[in-house]
Amino acid sequence: MGDRVPVAVLGATGLVGQRFVSLLERHPWFELRAVAASEARAGKRYGETVEWVIDAPFPGEAAGLVMRRPRPEEFRDVEVVFVALPKEVAGPIELELARMGKIVVSNANVFRMEPDVPLLNPEANWEHIRLVEEQRRRRGWRGAILKVPNCTTAVLTLSLKPLLDAYGLRRVFMTSMQAISGAGFRGVPGYAIVDNILPFIRGEEEKVARESRKILGRLEGGEVKPLEVDVVATTTRVPVLDGHLESVVAFLEKRPGGVEEVYRVWEEWRSRPQELGLPTAPEAPVVVRREPDRPQPRLDRMAGRGMSVSVGRAALPLEGEPVLRYLVLGHNTVRGAAGTGVLIAELYYKVVEQVF
Ligand SMILES: NC(=O)c1ccc[n+]([C@@H]2O[C@H](COP(=O)([O-])OP(=O)(O)OC[C@H]3O[C@@H](n4cnc5c(N)ncnc54)[C@H](OP(=O)(O)O)[C@@H]3O)[C@@H](O)[C@H]2O)c1
Repeated sequence: MGDRVPVAVLGATGLVGQRFVSLLERHPWFELRAVAASEARAGKRYGETVEWVIDAPFPGEAAGLVMRRPRPEEFRDVEVVFVALPKEVAGPIELELARMGKIVVSNANVFRMEPDVPLLNPEANWEHIRLVEEQRRRRGWRGAILKVPNCTTAVLTLSLKPLLDAYGLRRVFMTSMQAISGAGFRGVPGYAIVDNILPFIRGEEEKVARESRKILGRLEGGEVKPLEVDVVATTTRVPVLDGHLESVVAFLEKRPGGVEEVYRVWEEWRSRPQELGLPTAPEAPVVVRREPDRPQPRLDRMAGRGMSVSVGRAALPLEGEPVLRYLVLGHNTVRGAAGTGVLIAELYYKVVEQVF
């Protein structure tokens, strides 16, 4: 374990940050060396200050780390910085870290749509990592900013990519039932969500549409040509702790031969992260549940250690038409945030740096 890459987590006490810390515990390539959250925690030990709430064992390796201040100059001794900060504070910190030569892998909703910033859901668009060369040329820095998509978009696009490759895609209608952890540790008051469904999540529907087009787009001549597909999203918040469930109607170019054929397309689909054997890549990116009452958040969110999405309830409901209805479920803080962040860093070191 002597040659592991030193990494840091910014926002390490939040719901995404806790997932990062958990996933980095005994990681074969990365060594968690630094953590930070809000200024007031600086100087305290991670194990003493964090309120550990996620359903993963408390990480012994990280417990003794002393919290640093959330300032770029505090991270000179690491190569990679995983960012799980609110978007309001993330932007300037990320820019400064990239200027310092750091590899910034971020969940915050800033810079995602910048033309030279890769927005990566690795199995769906691993080749977009090459945008990093364009970014370095344009911005004149040695570092990089690599973005994790919005959580709902990550789950959706992982299920859409095999369909796009097999049948083509014209239009997508999606209604989400999103977990409360998607809004962060202090995000949704208990009184608002228990015994209730909140039918609006600010900004989410627009994010799903624009990010899906970028992720499913093609890299050509140093830029991403977004996929020309209409994405109509309706996003809601439901009283589930983790795991976003999405009801999808996909208008394809070509009608599939049957539901079983579609299930096989999903089941057999593998991508570059699987071929490269990246440590955080799940064996199967898309898991098919043929039971009529699956996928369910509680039963299926940890499929592939939280990195697979689970699909089910597929139907071709309109006679003769290329219209597919299905449900997809994925873990919002693993596949939708920290797990994909770690996978992006693994992809970077394998494909761009070509170490490991
Ligand atoms: N939750 C999800 O499913 C999800 C999915 C995709 C993307 N994201 C994005 O990931 C980021 C983190 O989300 P989260 O759900 O983990 O939020 P969270 O639970 O609210 O955690 C926020 C983290 O940022 C720290 N922080 C807050 N204000 C800060 C400041 N001014 N300076 C330095 N640190 C500060 C917090 O530290 P303290 O604990 O000390 O306050 C905490 O560690 C957000 O940008 C979010 O939009 C979240």
